[in-house]
Amino acid sequence: MMNTERRVSAPGRVNLIGEHTDYTGGLVMPMTIDRWTRITFREHDRILLTSADEAEPADVAIDCTEPSAVQPAWARFVAAVAAEMRPRTGIRGSVTTSIPIGAGLSSSAALEVAVALALGHDADPVPLAQLCRRAEHRATGVPSGIMDQLAIAAGRAGHALLIDCHDLTVAPVAIPEHAEIVVRFIVHRTLVGSPYAERVAQCAAAEQLIGPLRSATVTDTSSITDPTTRARARHVVSENQRVRDFAAAISGGDLAAAGALMIESHRSLRDDFATSSPAMDAAVDEAIRTPGVHGARMTGGGFGGCIVALCEPGAIPDGWVVTPVDGARLEPSPDTAT
Ligand code: GLA
Repeated sequence: MMNTERRVSAPGRVNLIGEHTDYTGGLVMPMTIDRWTRITFREHDRILLTSADEAEPADVAIDCTEPSAVQPAWARFVAAVAAEMRPRTGIRGSVTTSIPIGAGLSSSAALEVAVALALGHDADPVPLAQLCRRAEHRATGVPSGIMDQLAIAAGRAGHALLIDCHDLTVAPVAIPEHAEIVVRFIVHRTLVGSPYAERVAQCAAAEQLIGPLRSATVTDTSSITDPTTRARARHVVSENQRVRDFAAAISGGDLAAAGALMIESHRSLRDDFATSSPAMDAAVDEAIRTPGVHGARMTGGGFGGCIVALCEPGAIPDGWVVTPVDGARLEPSPDTAT
């Protein structure tokens, strides 16, 4: 059998709106971005990957069962995908990425999805994302939602994705030609050891009181007596409505309305959900004072990371202009593979 070299690419993602809603089955609207994690590989009897960004390789048995203890730390993502997938054969190869690591642009989810495809996953987006979400939990212990993995698996060039995290339906929404989406990196962060898990628990506590947040109203949340739980629930419920309104505004080409919703989303994350930081708030305030910027907000899990802005072309010259690309894929075999 010829052991041909193959390549898999998985993009990062930026979330335009719908933050901290996925783990309660709410609505999100992320977009895959033109930065990728790539693995060039051949079949092997173990999983042996070097990374341009890491001193030590990932060297994992294909029947690995304890991914959370694997060293070096980055290899846990590789090991956790293997532990979930139980592949028949392994791979050896190299990883490169243009997704900044620890910036909240889903570099870990891109690695998980890329590894799963390299190990032979059939690329059906929902099961692929579910497997990689379980892998993320095993690798990090952070009880994250499905947004990142599903966005990366299902991305569509030119589109953001309106995802219902309850039934896992994905509706592509075209980004208007005259819209520019700009990301600015503010500060490194990790969700490991952050209050992320506490936010998940606070949402679960609110659901014990008023039922699923995805179908609750803001009026329902006002019956919660504990002010912190009430504020967390109010963020989630109001954010779901903002996602619906944002999708409608973007579809109708109304960038001013879409931008205003991003600003409201940021304020809700800052005041009700407490996942922003003074540096993120200052960056958002600076962005929204800039001529040609329709709106801006923190993006991703929070406690650092990036802001995202919706603007006229060229409005934020020192940001990264990102464009929506297709989701993760295994590149077709070169001719020599046949
Ligand atoms: C992180 C998680 C996602 C989601 C966001 C917040 O990116 O991985 O599942 O919860 O935070 O919206």
